[in-house]
Amino acid sequence: MTAAADIIVTKAEHSKLKDINLENIPFGKYFTDHMLEVDYEDGEWKNAEIKPYQPLLLAPSLAALHYGQAIFEGIKAYKNADGEAFIFRPYDNFKRFNISAERMAMPQVPEEIFMEGMRMLIDIDKSWIPSQKDHSLYIRPFMFSSDEMIGVRPSEKYKFLVILSPTGPYYAAPMRINVEEKYVRAVPGGVGFAKAAGNYAGAMYATAQARLKGYDQVLWTDALEHKYVQECGVMNVFFVIGNTAVTPDLNEGTILAGVTRDSVIMLLKEMGYNVEERAISIDEIIEAHKAGTLKEVFGTGTAATISMIKTLNYKDYEMNFDVETWEASPEVKRRMDAIKNGVAADNHGWMYKI
Ligand code: COI
Repeated sequence: MTAAADIIVTKAEHSKLKDINLENIPFGKYFTDHMLEVDYEDGEWKNAEIKPYQPLLLAPSLAALHYGQAIFEGIKAYKNADGEAFIFRPYDNFKRFNISAERMAMPQVPEEIFMEGMRMLIDIDKSWIPSQKDHSLYIRPFMFSSDEMIGVRPSEKYKFLVILSPTGPYYAAPMRINVEEKYVRAVPGGVGFAKAAGNYAGAMYATAQARLKGYDQVLWTDALEHKYVQECGVMNVFFVIGNTAVTPDLNEGTILAGVTRDSVIMLLKEMGYNVEERAISIDEIIEAHKAGTLKEVFGTGTAATISMIKTLNYKDYEMNFDVETWEASPEVKRRMDAIKNGVAADNHGWMYKI
């Protein structure tokens, strides 16, 4: 299966769009009229179809439900003032998807299915792309094992789907974060760099514990010493210390190679900041705070884009910030939004026209 022509399109009889108010929509609650569904069987991808958004009929023995061979991506589409639709850096997500697939012993999804299927789907549902500030069409490609068999081994069958969700801001307000010292998200040699469903399931208990203590999310630390910072909730994390922005490096395979992370690094450099990708310890962060040089702490991700952290707590030491005075993260967000909304030139070639 190679050509776009092989993707069968069956249109919905009625659009649900008129029933939905696209103002201030919660993240991930509403889905557009259509979805892409493709099967992997006998070593090849087949039955590619764009069809009305609908439930899947799955066997109770479905392998993914038992052993979690499941991966996903998060991508966003935007509209410019002329109503033209664009996807933000979709090739980067496509490549990362297949890196996740390899790690989880799943088949590669070919470009003509991932990219062309996504493009055709968005083209059909492009009237769902919201145009208000901080809104977008969230694209969720995902794959799961679909053997009806509970033996523990890589499945022989898989399903690849893309669904679309019009969405508003993920974290509406600056966040309160607790540094996690007991639970871990990722270990060297593990699956932290993959966008594996289980990474998110494994994080939920620790996050719920942090919420009970009055925090929104946790700042993950390394599994061996709980000393070095990894990710913040479902985001990459940046610390602006003086004129330098520091973010944990990707060398140990414990951190997701965020597309927003990479974009933020480029924009910060253009703004004149030094950017260091390296191990950063919680001790260094506290020392910088005590010295008055820790200027900003923020998370980055596709869903969240850029999310300010107003409180960072480590044991009994609480660091509070007046985010109103910040310069780096608001300016990065402003520049990135301008590119996404077609207001500023796309000098990096980030916007993929539908
Ligand atoms: C994203 O930022 O796109 C994510 O995948 C994070 C979360 C919504 C699961």
